[in-house]
Amino acid sequence: MAARKVIAVVGATGAQGGGLARAILADPNGGFACRAITRDPVKDPARALAGKGADVVKDHAVEADVYRGFGFPGVDELGNMFQVYRDFEKEVLGARSIDLTRALNPSLQTFDEWHARNKSKIPLE
Ligand SMILES: NC(=O)c1ccc[n+]([C@@H]2O[C@H](COP(=O)([O-])OP(=O)(O)OC[C@H]3O[C@@H](n4cnc5c(N)ncnc54)[C@H](OP(=O)(O)O)[C@@H]3O)[C@@H](O)[C@H]2O)c1
Repeated sequence: MAARKVIAVVGATGAQGGGLARAILADPNGGFACRAITRDPVKDPARALAGKGADVVKDHAVEADVYRGFGFPGVDELGNMFQVYRDFEKEVLGARSIDLTRALNPSLQTFDEWHARNKSKIPLE
């Protein structure tokens, strides 16, 4: 059997990373192994992943710039959610303005407004 590629999941004990980790572990013939990275390998979610076959590894809080320097030899793909927040925190979190949003998109609706207009199109049964 060919060696499985390793998917290293940062945030594996959380909601998003946990879903990904469990999906990898639930598919043992899918060709991928799960390396679950956590700052606390003994907490319950980390133990649960280990019990399902994950290789649980302790995260030593490496800064983003240090990560970049690693180069990740042998890695096929790398997704970095934290970088978006680090590099674009102001745009993503700090500068949200409903007035600016309405100026850019005059047809903006709240969910309630959209729902009132569209609920008859949504089959509930
Ligand atoms: N939940 C959603 O619906 C959703 C949707 C789209 C995008 N997102 C994004 O996906 C990311 C994760 O969201 P989530 O809901 O899964 O969050 P979460 O449940 O709070 O999990 C985040 C995980 O990241 C790890 N973590 C937190 N701070 C860290 C740090 N400084 N260094 C390294 N690891 C750290 C924690 O693991 P340890 O404590 O084990 O280290 C934690 O389990 C966020 O950027 C979020 O905005 C979430």
